[in-house]
Amino acid sequence: MNFQLTEEHEMIRKMVREFAKNEVAPTAAERDEEERFDREIFEKMAELGLTGIPWPEEYGGIGSDYLAYVIAVEELSKVCASTGVTLSAHISLASWPIYKFGTEEQKQTYLRALATGEKLGAYGLSEPGAGSDVSSMKTRAVLDGDHYVINGSKVWITNGGEADIYVVFAVTSPEKKHKGISAFIIEKGTPGFSIGKKEKKLGIRSSPTTELIFEDCRVPKENLLGQEGEGFKIAMMTLDGGRNGIAAQAVGIAQGALDAAVEYAKGRVQFGKPIAEQQGVGFKLADMATAVEAARLLTYQAAWLESNNLPYGKASAMAKLFAGDTAMKVTVDAVQIFGGYGYTKDYPVERFMRDAKITQIYEGTQEIQRLVISRMLTKE
Ligand code: CAA
Ligand code: FAD
Repeated sequence: MNFQLTEEHEMIRKMVREFAKNEVAPTAAERDEEERFDREIFEKMAELGLTGIPWPEEYGGIGSDYLAYVIAVEELSKVCASTGVTLSAHISLASWPIYKFGTEEQKQTYLRALATGEKLGAYGLSEPGAGSDVSSMKTRAVLDGDHYVINGSKVWITNGGEADIYVVFAVTSPEKKHKGISAFIIEKGTPGFSIGKKEKKLGIRSSPTTELIFEDCRVPKENLLGQEGEGFKIAMMTLDGGRNGIAAQAVGIAQGALDAAVEYAKGRVQFGKPIAEQQGVGFKLADMATAVEAARLLTYQAAWLESNNLPYGKASAMAKLFAGDTAMKVTVDAVQIFGGYGYTKDYPVERFMRDAKITQIYEGTQEIQRLVISRMLTKE
């Protein structure tokens, strides 16, 4: 077993860390306050090749792997969790299913545009009445000649409105339940497809989250992704890897909060010495650092498994579960270490705390991760 990152992984970490520090961090608080998505940051990520990290060069990627991808999401999330999830949704949720299930033509058209960052991607699975219970979705797709006619709506869609390419799930055969769900690639601007309400959120406020509305939206038959009826499986398999992207986001948020707390505790003097030297604070920092490291190891392991074509679904759910809870606890503790200052917008820890909460909710709530893990345990 080798825990040392390769030169390539170290190089990608260094590059993303520099980029995050110089191009993402300076406006993170302001974008959070203004709930503003910055396309320029995405374009700069594209210039560095980050938008296509794991995809082969023949599809516009840089031919690296899933470990490099989670390292990039972690480094971005250390300074701005919104930027972290922009990349995570783009790669894991929009690009991955096209890479795995797309035809050669779909890959050349859509995956290439996503990998090069010419286009931004999104993933439309959740509905008002179908969040955890995916198979109860109602959005309907009916074949009519050379097109599927789509009616319904999706909610909570990350990158919604800003994205150009959407992987969307709809029911093609209601009587077949989850086996009657299909996946589609839908382009922004397709008549009948519009963007609805933009959510006002507690955290990740510079990541847009919107409703998608489909009213007699005619999608060419060629944009069916995979086979008819394969949608539920595609959605689940996509989430298997996507959850590890969120684990990486959580590790980044937690590390960002820990770094800030250590710095602050070294400098803040109470009772005649830095608070870091008060055992109550020092022990808290030690527990925070230990949890972050454990979360990182689970996350890297899941990415390594996926990169090596080994089963990774359970590992990914475990990483998301543990890293999400770690991010929540570590950020709350970081605010505590900052005392009253931590509760203000003068320091980033309150933002980290607000951002951490979402990692316990999306890509399957923590309860759903436990359900996924326990089902796999009993199957083994
Ligand atoms: N891979 C392949 N097949 C799978 C699978 C997987 N990971 N998981 C399930 N399946 C198959 C099962 O084997 C079963 O197949 P058969 O019918 O052939 O037997 C079929 O799918 C149905 O499986 P279940 O009975 O387990 O289905 P279920 O209805 O009980 O639901 C669930 C399972 C895990 C709860 C699922 O609904 C789920 O994952 N819910 C959470 C949804 C979620 O995570 N949404 C995230 C949206 S994206 C997001 O949030 C974006 C963001 O972060 C930025
Ligand atoms: P519900 O499913 O209604 O759950 C409510 C509560 O009940 C939760 O605590 C849940 O854990 C619990 N619960 C439900 N079922 C069970 C069970 N069987 N056992 C135990 N507890 C259970 N979706 C997309 O498709 N694409 C996106 O890009 C996307 N981005 C998102 C971004 C944000 C900011 C948010 C908030 C959500 C996003 N989502 C996205 C949706 C997200 O995946 C769902 O919110 C999530 O899966 C939970 O669904 P729900 O909100 O309907 O909650």
